[in-house]
Amino acid sequence: MATLTVDPRVSGATAEFVSSRHLMYIDGRFVHAASGKTFPVYNPATGDVITHVPEAEEEDVNRAVLAARRAFDDGQWVRMAPSARGRLLWKLADLIEQNNDEFAELESLDNGKPFSVARVADAPLTVDMFRYMAGWATKISGSTLPLSAGYDFHSYTLREPIGVVAQIIPWNFPLLMAAWKLAPALACGCTVVLKLAEQTPLSGLRLAQLIDEAGFPPGVVNVLTGYGEGAGAPLAAHDLVDKVAFTGSTEVGKLIVKAAAGNLKKVTLELGGKSPAIVFPDARIDQAIAGTASAIFFNHGQCCCAGSRLYVHEKVFDQVVEGVSHVAEEIKLAPGLDPACQMGPLVSDEQYQKVIGYIESGISEGAKITAGGPVSGFERGYFVRPTVLTNTNPGMKVVQEEIFGPVVCAVPFSDEDVDRIVKRANDTVYGLAASVWTQNLSLAHKVARSLRAGTVWVNCHNVFDASLPFGGYKQSGWGREMGEEVLHNYTEIKAVTVAL
Ligand code: NAI
Ligand code: MG
Repeated sequence: MATLTVDPRVSGATAEFVSSRHLMYIDGRFVHAASGKTFPVYNPATGDVITHVPEAEEEDVNRAVLAARRAFDDGQWVRMAPSARGRLLWKLADLIEQNNDEFAELESLDNGKPFSVARVADAPLTVDMFRYMAGWATKISGSTLPLSAGYDFHSYTLREPIGVVAQIIPWNFPLLMAAWKLAPALACGCTVVLKLAEQTPLSGLRLAQLIDEAGFPPGVVNVLTGYGEGAGAPLAAHDLVDKVAFTGSTEVGKLIVKAAAGNLKKVTLELGGKSPAIVFPDARIDQAIAGTASAIFFNHGQCCCAGSRLYVHEKVFDQVVEGVSHVAEEIKLAPGLDPACQMGPLVSDEQYQKVIGYIESGISEGAKITAGGPVSGFERGYFVRPTVLTNTNPGMKVVQEEIFGPVVCAVPFSDEDVDRIVKRANDTVYGLAASVWTQNLSLAHKVARSLRAGTVWVNCHNVFDASLPFGGYKQSGWGREMGEEVLHNYTEIKAVTVAL
């Protein structure tokens, strides 16, 4: 194997970790794949291979599930005092916080995002998530219920951990998605097999080391690296798994549902989106321009809730489109670890080809480009310029399908359309998020109610918090992550009735 060079801008600790031999975490031990196979990890800024990680297959999935099953069934973890579980989660949060910048370097190197963003967003939001869920560990409760049947019964509910949970995550926020999944499941007393995205395994493998250091009992958390078909599919189908929680494409979400049918394991899904941002003429225009630009360009548009359809009232359409296009043209594209970087490369060649394909299909169907376009000017790396399309129509692929890149379709609406704009905004198979830009309070709340989406932002977009439930209507998914709501994903309710 040729010597691999890690980007010289990363710290010594990160360089050492990246060049170390990577192992998966099963039953409290760091292990190779049973087959001994590995697969390459790429730097999306250059296309170079930076390291290799184990390739889990069915046998490894089996080992991990059996470990999680034993750790659940032996009762040690389930019966651990909730305050002790909470303390472990809090300890893990502290360890992540102590390594904040190294995690940000790993995310930048592996995913392509700017280091400057990962260190103030991905890593600290991960810490918040573990701390927030640490607090819930002691507050998961049932209720006492009066029976219509009469006074001679005492009935109450117990909220119990659902069991062994399979979790499959994507590459757009590798560390944060691991936290969204692990933190609530562990707070609830479940045991977990987490499969990282094949494009971005590094931060999750580093997290596994900290999970071990924090002192979670063996088998409670197992972390696998592998491909979707080789590792994800057998995990989702496994008979000893009680629940599968998935984030990724709507297409694979449907496969997960089918895979779960064998033992009717419970399923939650966080899938794609085509989220609208609607700008009314009374909006504070500067705020709307900056906000709707960041709605689509944040994380290079690789967000399930990216504001990829921009509906603007015709009175301010030219001004807003000009403003957003100007923001797009000013964004500095560079490798994520370059201090000047405001937007890095997309995560992979596959995503690069997909997004360029959408821009080209938009052009060939008659859309106009007011910023960006299919040519990046970079010789290497998966860079795509932030792109604004106008002159689209509702039937075009770029308007209907999730692009998952820095590409927005701007569409004007008129006074006559105000009642219809919500209908247009709702006119996709997705229903993840939306934003409304106006100073009119009653209009804002009225539109918020009518949008068929799991999240509505008013005069902002992409605001996340561990306390806010997040998830989709329609084909954007099943269930909610974060907030108190997520506890339902990882618990079963038991009704106990005593004849007095
Ligand atoms: P994907 O849905 O194929 O992958 C997500 C995760 O699922 C990865 O861990 C992958 O290994 C796993 N997976 C893939 N096939 C599987 C299978 N048959 N059984 C079990 N697990 C499986 O997404 P991909 O290919 O990375 O991206 C394709 C598109 O999906 C993107 O262009 C974007 O539109 C959408 N996407 C949406 C995300 C979201 O946050 N909702 C995140 C990532 C992608
Ligand atoms: Mg895929």
